[in-house]
Amino acid sequence: MFPVDKFQSLHTPFYYYDIALLRNTLNAVVAESRKYPNYHVHYAIKANHDPRLLSLIASYGLGADCVSGGEIIAAIHAGIPASKIVYAGVGKSDREIALALENEIGCFNVESLAELHVINEIALTMNKRACVAFRVNPDVDAHTHEKITTGLSENKFGISLAHLSKAVTEAQRLSAIDLVGLHFHIGSQIEHMHVFQTLCDRINTIVDQLKDEVGVLKSINVGGGLGVDYRHPLEHPLPDFANYFHTFYSNLRLPQEIEIHFELGRSIICQCGHLISRVLYVKEGEAKKFIILDAGMNDLIRPAMYGARHHITHLTAPDNPKREIYDIVGPICESSDIFAIAEQFPFTKRGDLLAIHSAGAYGQSMASGYNSRPLAPAIYSEEL
Ligand code: LLP
Repeated sequence: MFPVDKFQSLHTPFYYYDIALLRNTLNAVVAESRKYPNYHVHYAIKANHDPRLLSLIASYGLGADCVSGGEIIAAIHAGIPASKIVYAGVGKSDREIALALENEIGCFNVESLAELHVINEIALTMNKRACVAFRVNPDVDAHTHEKITTGLSENKFGISLAHLSKAVTEAQRLSAIDLVGLHFHIGSQIEHMHVFQTLCDRINTIVDQLKDEVGVLKSINVGGGLGVDYRHPLEHPLPDFANYFHTFYSNLRLPQEIEIHFELGRSIICQCGHLISRVLYVKEGEAKKFIILDAGMNDLIRPAMYGARHHITHLTAPDNPKREIYDIVGPICESSDIFAIAEQFPFTKRGDLLAIHSAGAYGQSMASGYNSRPLAPAIYSEEL
């Protein structure tokens, strides 16, 4: 599966993207969403904004979910039509709002009344109109990691249910605003469909409550959040898109003319990316053995930041029957720079290559130059 011979001559660490798997994933997402003519999928660029991957995603006809002016520019450069861009974020700057209006993006996902007024003012000075969906905080528990939960009333995101009615009245009064819909995003790495069912129930109630004030909305954006299998990524490279889309189909009770938008990031890009790293040292501690890699938390911050565990495989000698218990760590001067604790792993020595899987989403896009380390480059399977 991995061209290990070719990896030997490359500088490590690097991100390796399996383009055939990305194509399979995109084929699956397109085939499953097309079963429902009013479904539209936007790729959440924050998961990975690599220009080459973005262009490939754009070629499958997906729109983009952006959270900054930089992401809007990246989406347009990749060939995603501006009309298919949705733009969320609690802190859109004036410059970013102007950029979005200039490019006539599809929809602003507006997170507060204050932001609505600023968009209206800027649109008036530019002689533009802004299509707007209110991001509603539905107070639904995503049952995921607290740091990637966004739809609870204690989170900073969206407009609370209590303020929604006032926001709608205000949007109808502002002359440069076209209110087209509502937006929801409750969190990320959601593994259980019952969470999305609860979201659907909440959406049904909210749309019903608002119908006297707004009439029929044009669109409902249900956000992203579909999880992937971090434990068995090689056995389960494709998320169950069929079940995911069907869950919305069977639980949303909305008029048929309403367009349904999805913002999928992780589920599209996660499993095709692997962080390839070389073993610098195997160190005998007093009670432990450490595999010290040349990849660290600056390259992949998820383990340090969320306690996330990524499956790791030995690429050089995966079948070695001799196994040891290791902690697998990075070289950064932080105790949290740890990829695995007490891992049963094939016998390892200096120079061996390891793959840290499920690194395509929120890996490269969250990397930093901490400790003055260069950013790990991307290598694409089709180029090797
Ligand atoms: N839409 C909105 C408004 C979002 O905030 C997000 C992710 C998405 C869509 C895409 O969600 P996805 O389908 O990828 O779950 N860095 C964290 C994840 C942060 C997610 C932020 N928002 C991690 O590494 O787990």
